Amino acid sequence: MRLDKFLADTTDLTRSLATKAVKSGRVLVNGSKPRSASLKITTEDQVTLDGETLTLEAGFRYFVMNKPAGYVCTHRDSTHPLVFDLLEGVVNRMALHTVGRLDRETTGLLLITDDGHFSHHLTSPRHHQPKTYRAWLAEPLRDDAEQKFEQGILLEDDPERTRPAQLQRISPQEVLLTIHEGRYHQVRRMFAALGNHVDKLHRERMGAMTLPEELAEGEFRPLSEAEIGRLTG
Ligand code: URA
Repeated sequence: MRLDKFLADTTDLTRSLATKAVKSGRVLVNGSKPRSASLKITTEDQVTLDGETLTLEAGFRYFVMNKPAGYVCTHRDSTHPLVFDLLEGVVNRMALHTVGRLDRETTGLLLITDDGHFSHHLTSPRHHQPKTYRAWLAEPLRDDAEQKFEQGILLEDDPERTRPAQLQRISPQEVLLTIHEGRYHQVRRMFAALGNHVDKLHRERMGAMTLPEELAEGEFRPLSEAEIGRLTG
């Protein structure tokens, strides 16, 4: 592997910043300054940046986060903070993506990975992975809401009814809703179609994964092997 790629994979440097770091003497390979960032290195070589040894992590990475409000699920946004900013201590964050997206103001369970197959399995309509949201509503829920959600709802600007969704009333203005697909702003638009408005939205569950209780808003942790197995099994 080229040294600049190795540095981009093991730090938060882009390849061009990695090249600059090599040129400015911050990088040592087996104790010596390399002549070029295109130097080929192997797993036998010891590479340091500013005196710290870098190691390539084997395999894919999987995290669960309790997303706070105000953060966006993209890598580029000039006005809002990114969920990736919260991944303190995680290197090469540009290689990661969120498994589906939560709106900026939505909180709760968010999976983050660099494994495209894993996210495809969880988001593809073919697999119908259920997602459960707790929603706080502006108005008391109408009496026939359960039937309406079960029958499927026609959303504005979408000719296809939503798949049957299950609604559980916690109180007149607080519900748990389980959906089996992931259209744009789906939960908010489903309640809007019933003449209501979602004041606050929080994801509690995705497939086999429930938001871990120990994660405060903004916190994250790696998924265990068992959790990854249950999510893809
Ligand atoms: N549905 C929404 O409307 N927003 C989300 O963030 C997730 C599902």
